[in-house]
Amino acid sequence: MIALGCDHGGYNLICAIKKFFDAKGINYKEFGTFNEDSVDYPVYAYKVAKAVAEGECETGILCCGTGIGISIAANKVKGIRAAVVNNEFGAEMTRRHNHANILCMGGRVTTEEDAVRYAEIFLNTPEEGGRHDNRLAMISKIEDGTFSLD
Ligand code: RB5
Repeated sequence: MIALGCDHGGYNLICAIKKFFDAKGINYKEFGTFNEDSVDYPVYAYKVAKAVAEGECETGILCCGTGIGISIAANKVKGIRAAVVNNEFGAEMTRRHNHANILCMGGRVTTEEDAVRYAEIFLNTPEEGGRHDNRLAMISKIEDGTFSLD
């Protein structure tokens, strides 16, 4: 199950992604917003991030105007690795190397066609282990406050 969320600035991209998922039979859960009225992006970042962090959804997609604000908010939830993506290489590598669990994009900087392509790449790319697991363990320690340079 994929969690979907956006503010007014990313509503167009989420609509395009939903259309693509419907056509492909991909399951998703919507966390709003549901129109282009102005709203606060941290609300939707939090809803989607909680759903992913608590295991209700495996991954999430969040869109705002730039993808940046909503990613900053989502990354405050423990266990979330939300990545702003604006090219195909980033969509692939943030899965392979960063094990990103939320894809963030911006409706004011990315076309609907590109957003659908980045989502498809993100969802179809496997995570790589090895040295990347070690680095992610370091990030978790930073999150927990147990990281040490000694
Ligand atoms: C809303 O106007 C805008 O600030 C928001 O969509 C996003 O771009 C924040 O990072």
